Amino acid sequence: MNSPAARLKQARVLIVGLGLIGGSIARGLKRAEAVSRLLACDSDTEQLHAALAEGSVDEVGDLATLCPQADLIVIALPTLLTAEVLATVAKHCAAHAVVTDVASVKATVTRAAQDLGAGFSSRFVPGHPIAGSEKSGYLASDAELFSSRNVILTPLPDNTQDSLGLVSALWRVIGANMLAMSVERHDEVLAATSHLPHLLAYSIVDVLARQEQSDDIFRYAAGGFADFSRLASSDPRMWSDIFVANRGAMSRVLGSMIEELQGLKAALESAPPGELASDLRKLFTDARATREAFINTHFKPNANSVMKEQKVSFLACGLNQAARNSDASVCGKVRVPGDKSISHRSIIFGSIAEGRTEVSGFLEGEDALNTVAAFRELGVTIVGPEQGRLSIIGVGRNGLSAPRKPLYMGNSGTAMRLLAGLLAAQPFDSVLTGDESLSKRPMARVVDPLRDMGAQIEAQEGGTPPLRIAPATLAGIHYAMPMASAQVKSCLLLAGLYAEGETRIDEPAICRDHTERMLEGFGYPLTRTADFKSVTLEGGFPLKATTIDVPSDISSATFFLVAAAICPGSDVELEHVGINPSRVGIINLLKMMGANLDMLNERVVGGEPVADLRIRYAPLKGIVIPEEQIPLAIDEFPALFIAAAVAEGETVLRGAEELRVKESDRLAAMAAGMDAIGIESEMYHDGIRISGNPAAVFNTAEIDSQGDHRIAMAFAVASLRSAAPLVIRDCANVATSFPNFVELSARLGLEIGVERS
Ligand code: S3P
Repeated sequence: MNSPAARLKQARVLIVGLGLIGGSIARGLKRAEAVSRLLACDSDTEQLHAALAEGSVDEVGDLATLCPQADLIVIALPTLLTAEVLATVAKHCAAHAVVTDVASVKATVTRAAQDLGAGFSSRFVPGHPIAGSEKSGYLASDAELFSSRNVILTPLPDNTQDSLGLVSALWRVIGANMLAMSVERHDEVLAATSHLPHLLAYSIVDVLARQEQSDDIFRYAAGGFADFSRLASSDPRMWSDIFVANRGAMSRVLGSMIEELQGLKAALESAPPGELASDLRKLFTDARATREAFINTHFKPNANSVMKEQKVSFLACGLNQAARNSDASVCGKVRVPGDKSISHRSIIFGSIAEGRTEVSGFLEGEDALNTVAAFRELGVTIVGPEQGRLSIIGVGRNGLSAPRKPLYMGNSGTAMRLLAGLLAAQPFDSVLTGDESLSKRPMARVVDPLRDMGAQIEAQEGGTPPLRIAPATLAGIHYAMPMASAQVKSCLLLAGLYAEGETRIDEPAICRDHTERMLEGFGYPLTRTADFKSVTLEGGFPLKATTIDVPSDISSATFFLVAAAICPGSDVELEHVGINPSRVGIINLLKMMGANLDMLNERVVGGEPVADLRIRYAPLKGIVIPEEQIPLAIDEFPALFIAAAVAEGETVLRGAEELRVKESDRLAAMAAGMDAIGIESEMYHDGIRISGNPAAVFNTAEIDSQGDHRIAMAFAVASLRSAAPLVIRDCANVATSFPNFVELSARLGLEIGVERS
């Protein structure tokens, strides 16, 4: 089957309504020479003829005449008119024609499309470009209007991948970034971020116009008023439609706004001046920081490659007031976010599967969200995430589209290494980049065996990212990994899906097997040896969409396991934690140290074993960590070192040089932080020896997490045993794996203040 871009190239596209949006689409498509013929209709014949004269459309006419000729119809009209015109379009359009729209409220339009029956609604893909301007009309239109701007699709449950692909191809070719969300979420989000500011702009102008001597007022108004009221120059017809169509969501968000204003009014009327000044200063400072963060992360072209500009520090204070008052310790029941490894893989495999993969429990952390963004850039429609739920409309094993820019993997080695394997097998060029930490991490471990398979892939000198990948035909490989790495194994298995013949990976020690389990879940045939140390697959089979329930991440749960293990009186339950045998090193090691830890309600969810973990404080003793446990606990050592620091006797870890090349050099980062708070340790090239002290009270100190999320969280937990709060620097990356760490810590009794600068 042809790619969506190739199908678009052969398509006759009709634009209904040649105003700012419709005109900009026409100009953009013409400039890109992206379609075979461009047709347009509009009630304003002057606009139509202007477009025809300029050559930005090929033919103009009335709707009933042009509709039957079109393969793709874009209704670029105000919201209520769109709902009305849909019936006419459905009546006249060809049976294969795909239809989309640009209306700013999706519920009304969606309902209208569904009322026209399944034969039509499966081909109607609702869309909304977030790229308007206060200007209107064809003359204001601009081929560049959508460049690097977001377009949100709100797919209907029966939309076919073909329809979605064609509509995405249209927007992609004129430069837009594709997002997708549910209709309800779209209308709520837009009510807050777009409709409310317009309502406020119109009403502030109205309020001022009604003041006595309004002429005088406007005479003295300056840039502030002009900036703030810019939106009130927008098209009145379009905006009145929007408020009528979205009145429910609009009135909810307006309610919050009115409450905020009433609070401000009350404070202005009666708060003491000092208090008023400090309250206002705080509000304005926070609002300014929020706006700046928004501009930096979401509003610049290629925003997701912008470095984090905010520095985040933790002030980890040990037990909070509530825990101290209740005489309790670290106590309670929480569910930590979804597993990072499984979340990444759900996107990767869901994208190349046939059909819709529904995911729940997805980790909405930065790393996994970067993977979502990367697959959107590869042409996949992914709806969500909304409260951990995602719907991935798979494009099939050969359906990915060429990315138009480098794919940014943020902090995630997993994403970069797994995508390297997948992209090495695609018929297009791609580039993988990452943040400062990822840019220093070794990629030769995947580049070398991929090259042995025939891949055209280049790293920087020294084997670090960015990775540049060109199309190649791959051959299967029999690879004995020099290190136990699930990332390397998964990378090669992904390449193996596309390779000629058999790919077999042998591992020196068992490492996580989420890839193998997920491939089985997607119906892909593979064989594993009885000792689970070797996996074989053959390229060429399809993946069938499935349902994935992501368990909670045992690596995130670890911080609370250790919190309870080091703090007398603690009793914590962590719900729905993944206990895949290749991940339970931390449970094995804590138990060896004497922890009182139970696995309750063991069950299997979507091919992955899950349990509730209950841990109660018990004194710990130091251990020599068995080497075979290292890959099973590879991400858990920073937290485990803190447990070792309060254990009786020494804990010794050897054979763990892999820790040197994680998000930071974790041996060095932990040794430095532990030294700062008075924990005695000796570092080796491949491990560490920690002298434990059950009576230890750690010193207060400032700790550099080196931008490593797990170092930051490990020391936050250490504050439960420190004399005074610990200041932990460079903690922004906690958001990569555990975005609500501070909030869940507070629920269990651990207080962590957050400072942003
Ligand atoms: C991961 C594998 C591990 C782990 C990483 C996630 C994965 O890395 O440290 O956080 O999802 O495959 P290695 O496989 O390189 O040891």
